[in-house]
Amino acid sequence: MEKTGMMLDVREVLVSSEEIQDKVRELGERITRDYRDEKPLLVGILNGSVVVLSDLMRHIDLPCEIAFMAVSSYGAGTTTSGVVRILKDLDRDITGRHVLIVEDIVDTGLTLSHLRRSLLSRGAETLEVCALLSKPSRREVDLEIKYLGFEVPDEFVVGYGIDYAGSYRNLPDVCVLKPEVFEKDTGPPG
Ligand code: IMP
Ligand code: MG
Repeated sequence: MEKTGMMLDVREVLVSSEEIQDKVRELGERITRDYRDEKPLLVGILNGSVVVLSDLMRHIDLPCEIAFMAVSSYGAGTTTSGVVRILKDLDRDITGRHVLIVEDIVDTGLTLSHLRRSLLSRGAETLEVCALLSKPSRREVDLEIKYLGFEVPDEFVVGYGIDYAGSYRNLPDVCVLKPEVFEKDTGPPG
């Protein structure tokens, strides 16, 4: 089929929308079983997690709540401190809550390991991580991702919530862009 629109910028589909939908349903069913009799709080990390969070929550057959945080890493690539700046904080107390962080992609793991510590220190009863994608070859810290969609190679990916310079989040598949898309810059970020 001939490519049109945003797909013209895509070199390769890494994970198709059908594969994603099957996996997200499976993760939702596991979460439903694991949290039965509880009311988990899903914490989405903005902006990347909004697509996976909105699909995932519709496969969780439990009373659940959602909340959001936005963070930015300090000087990506220049520091390994793992300190992240909170740009938007949670709007509620999480003491005693069963918190499930929902993230688009785990790369070095620094963002999530910092967030994990921060949310645990606020008295969350349990804290687990759900991530659509993981790049294990890039990991700098040990981090358990209890609910993981897919492992991907060390390539810069976009789609299903994940952006390049703010764009491509609305692609339904997880894709790798053509090199010429980055040509005006120095290459793919990361
Ligand atoms: P970490 O702290 O290195 O694990 O950073 C994770 C964050 O980096 C993700 O939430 C994304 O915002 C961003 N990121 C990592 N890999 C990619 C990628 O391939 N494409 C787009 N964003 C990415
Ligand atoms: Mg992110």
